[in-house]
Parts: sequence; structure tokens; C-alpha cells
Amino acid sequence: MGTKISGFGFYVPENTVTNFDLEKKFDTSNEWIIERTGIQERRFITPNETNTSDLSVNAAKKALEMANIAPENLDLIISATLSADHSIPGMGVIIQDKLGCKDIPAIDIRQQCSGFIYGLDLADLYIKSGRYKKILLIGAEIQSTGLNLTDEGRDLAVLFGDGAGAFILENSKDTSDIIDSILHSDGKYYKELWKESPNSTHKGRVLVEDIQNGNIYPKMNGRTVFKHAVTKMPAVILELLKRNNLTKEDITQIIPHQANFRITQMVAKRLRLPMDKVYSNIHKYGNTTAATIPIAFTEAYNEGKFKKGDLIITVSFGSGFTWGANLIKF
Ligand code: COA
Repeated sequence: MGTKISGFGFYVPENTVTNFDLEKKFDTSNEWIIERTGIQERRFITPNETNTSDLSVNAAKKALEMANIAPENLDLIISATLSADHSIPGMGVIIQDKLGCKDIPAIDIRQQCSGFIYGLDLADLYIKSGRYKKILLIGAEIQSTGLNLTDEGRDLAVLFGDGAGAFILENSKDTSDIIDSILHSDGKYYKELWKESPNSTHKGRVLVEDIQNGNIYPKMNGRTVFKHAVTKMPAVILELLKRNNLTKEDITQIIPHQANFRITQMVAKRLRLPMDKVYSNIHKYGNTTAATIPIAFTEAYNEGKFKKGDLIITVSFGSGFTWGANLIKF
């Protein structure tokens, strides 16, 4: 029995925010953003109108429709996000309720940009163990309401966007499979890309000082993150190929986390692969964190980048640091 991706889809808010729109909010320029990141525009929700579970449900409905599965026939939800609707409870249960599922388990995982990669491995292992047969895996974020959209936060504010993507995973007798996954983490770098507050040592979790000194916004050492991303992603791809006795020529398409176009270019260069083998759609959506992989996977499929039977690698790197890759026979 293999694990088949029987449905996939994504949803992004309608509201498009271009680099020129950001120029009006803080000291940046379209040229700087395009040169350093490749991003042209991203989607931001209209605040107070929608939340991350709504984006998730919209994406999930598309994946369910493609798989031809009713929500009441799912038997597990795995929700990957760093921007859940609330800090208590997790978002999986809200998705379970909004979709009208039975009282199935709903798991939240928080591996940031690597959330979907980790979730895919988890879903695959649950299916192969025989415990669950139909799993909804979602990666979703609302980044826009958590960014510091001023001069002080401009390094991060230009990178991120809102969106959601979903997979339906089922046990399958055909050749489709999540063949293998490799996951890593190295917590000594956790402060290189993190948000200090809310903080478990602070009474009420957030102090007035946290708001005043900007600790409620994410902070990043961009160069360190960049350096590690362009090293770890090619390394884990090679590790996965070696473990499965494959060469890079066997892979039809690599679908990397969409962090930065320069990072994607470096991954291709270090693997000596042409850019048409390493998918990018960051110019349209920015970095939607846990959602980039399912969004990119769906668009790559719609553009004919891979077909039934092809081998694909999904790969990610992010805060933690966490990173990993999945080898998929579609
Ligand atoms: N607009 C204009 N100028 C900006 C800016 C912005 N949005 N953000 C930073 N700058 C300025 C800096 O202040 C700095 O100015 P200075 O030279 O006068 O001090 C200059 O641009 C260069 O900054 P630097 O941080 O050295 O740029 P960089 O070449 O490292 O590019 C990133 C910055 C963030 C694009 C890059 O480090 C990166 O992509 N890192 C990885 C980020 C990432 O992918 N994170 C998520 C991973 S999951």
C-alpha cells in the first residue's frame, strides 16, 4: 500500500498588495524587493474579516472536491501553521468544526516554513501504519496582521504573504506514494528567526514593554537564514536521493519552499539543475510559510510541470531551524 495525494488545492485572499503599495507604507522600493527576493506582489487579508481557519477551509474544500471525498469521510486533520486563529485551542479543531467533519482527531503542528514537509511525513506514516485512511493536511498562514509594516520591520515585511494550501492523503494500491521523507532540526539557531513575545515567562504572556520595543514582531538575521537555507536544502535533497538510490536526473520537478527567489536559484545552482526543474511562484504570493509547498505544488501541476508517475521532491527550510524533504511518486 502506498500513500497517494488524491486531492490538492489552495486559496489566497483576493486583496493583492504590490511592492508599490508597500513603498507607500515604509521606506522600501520595488527595485530593492525584486532584486533581493523576486517578489512582485503578495496577498493580504482585509483585517477583521477573515481568519486563518477560513483560508484553510477554502483550500481544504478544493482538495476534498478533487479527491471526491466528503468532509465526514475524513479520519484525521493535520494543520500546520504559525498563525493560528487563537493561541488556545489549536486551529485543527476549528477546521474540523467548520468543515463539518465527524469527531475525528485534529493535530496542530508548528514547524513554521517546514510545517507542510513535516506534516506530509506524519500523514504518510499514519496511513502506512493502517491507523488512518483519509487525511486532510493543511498549511495556512495569515502573516500580514503579524508584520511590522514600518521602516523598522521592513526587512521582514516585504517577504511574507497570506494563503493556504491543502492535500488529501489516502492509502492507495496504485503506484502513487510518498516514498520517503527526511526531516531535520537544529534549535541552537532558534533566535535567528523568531518572535520573542507572547512569552511564557511574561504574566499575561505579553508585556506593555513587549509592544513598545517591538518584541511582538518577528525578528530575523536574514544573512544567516539565507546561508543556512542554501546549504541545508540541497544537502537534504542529496541525502534523500542517496538513500533511495536515485540521481537528480530521476526527478521531474523539485518544489521548494518559496522563501526567496535568490534562495531557489542557489538551490538549483548548487544541484546543477536548470531553473525549469526547480519551481518558483514567489513573485505572485511572497512567502506564505506553511502554505508555500501546497500552493506551489498545485500551480506546478496546473502548469504541466509533472504528471502521473513522475518523481517529485518537496523541500523546505525555516525557523527553528527546521528543514526536510519528501520524495513523492505522483
Ligand atoms: N527595503 C529597502 N532596503 C532594505 C529593506 C527593504 N525592505 N530591508 C533591508 N534593507 C536594507 C538594509 O537596511 C541594509 O541597508 P544598509 O546597507 O544601509 O545597512 C541593506 O538593505 C542590505 O541589507 P541586508 O540585510 O544585508 O540585505 P540582504 O542582501 O541580506 O537581503 C534579505 C535581505 C532579507 C532579502 C535576505 O537576507 C534574505 O533573503 N534572507 C533570507 C530570508 C528568508 O528567506 N527568510 C524566511 C526563511 S523561511
